Amino acid sequence: MKTILITGGAGFIGSHLIRLFVNKYPDYKIVNLDKLTYAGNLENLIDIENAPNYEFVKADIVDADVIFEVFEKYQPDGVIHLAAESHVDRSIANPNEFIFTNIVGTANLLNAARKTWGDNSKGKRFYHVSTDEVYGSLGETGFFLEDTAYDPRSPYSASKASSDHLVRAYGHTFGLPLVVSNCSNNYGSFQFPEKLIPLFINNIRNNKALPVYGKGENIRDWLWVEDHARAIDVIFHKGKNLETYNIGGHNEWTNIDLIKLMCKVMDRKLGRNKGDSEKLITYVKDRAGHDMRYAIDSTKLQKELNWVPSLQFEEGIEKTIDWYLENEDWMNNITSGDYEKYYNEQYTKR
Ligand code: NAD
Ligand code: TYD
Repeated sequence: MKTILITGGAGFIGSHLIRLFVNKYPDYKIVNLDKLTYAGNLENLIDIENAPNYEFVKADIVDADVIFEVFEKYQPDGVIHLAAESHVDRSIANPNEFIFTNIVGTANLLNAARKTWGDNSKGKRFYHVSTDEVYGSLGETGFFLEDTAYDPRSPYSASKASSDHLVRAYGHTFGLPLVVSNCSNNYGSFQFPEKLIPLFINNIRNNKALPVYGKGENIRDWLWVEDHARAIDVIFHKGKNLETYNIGGHNEWTNIDLIKLMCKVMDRKLGRNKGDSEKLITYVKDRAGHDMRYAIDSTKLQKELNWVPSLQFEEGIEKTIDWYLENEDWMNNITSGDYEKYYNEQYTKR
């Protein structure tokens, strides 16, 4: 039986990955290591929490001693590292958390893997999950390729870029068997409502203002989260050692077009008059250093490992909106208490 340690498994993408692995690989023992920050929520995993091949460990990747102990105890054959501080706006308000978790935390995992596997790392794999934001901001044309030079511009993307460099350095210098992927913006169920899509779905539902940064002309390339999880599965099992794979949906939207689409779909689903939800759109002060455009070229992954996205965006956004409308309790549970404080600090001064 193989043991796979997945970090950040109580978060948005991590919980989808854990569900996929627990169900698809009954012969693997899946250990979910998560600190349960504001973004980590064990409710995301209720359907598999009692599975015989699943175990949860509450731990902070910044605590090197604890991480060594976890590796000592479980002796993982593979690590899939997703734990991170992940929201750009929070990295602007408080960069240090990002530096500790994303950089120091990743270094602690690398050191623990190196110590545990020693010179005998045959059959082992350290998979680092990263973002396309490390490549910086595109103009009107072009795509991010695996060899695009790094040019991170937010504390979030700079901390992820640092962690990517560290992972690759451990591969080249110490022979750590690794693979890295850089993915575009994800959407789907269980995403914390600080990110654009769940935040706006929740605000439309509650008839609250929709705070569009700047002119709403920034472009993001959206991928359904379950397609990202499928890509991670393929790369983990078939990706080449020391390689990087870009993951994306070839699905670019300006923020304002995406927001108008969500308003239209939600007017229909909520039985509102056409155009009612759009009236909630409010242009607010732009995000500092706001990257203009992200767009991924995932040809390498498609050609070498045969991965293609399974879902068209129009279908995916319908499914996503349905999920949030059907899971009001999930949303209500995480938008009480600390969330209100965050929301007020983030949005009242804009
Ligand atoms: P998320 O914020 O929803 O979840 C992060 C998880 O990490 C949470 O469960 C949190 O409790 C845990 N965590 C945070 N700090 C920790 C620490 N110090 N120790 C242990 N656990 C800790 O994030 P997400 O959107 O699911 O992103 C997961 C990964 O994928 C991140 O590495 C992110 O950079 C990357 N990524 C995200 C996207 C996206 O669109 N969301 C796109 C590409 C790449
Ligand atoms: P976000 O979901 O935070 O992802 P990222 O910044 O990592 O791409 O934001 C997606 C886009 O939506 C980004 O261009 C910023 C914009 N945005 C708003 O206009 N208003 C908001 O309240 C939020 C959270 C984001």
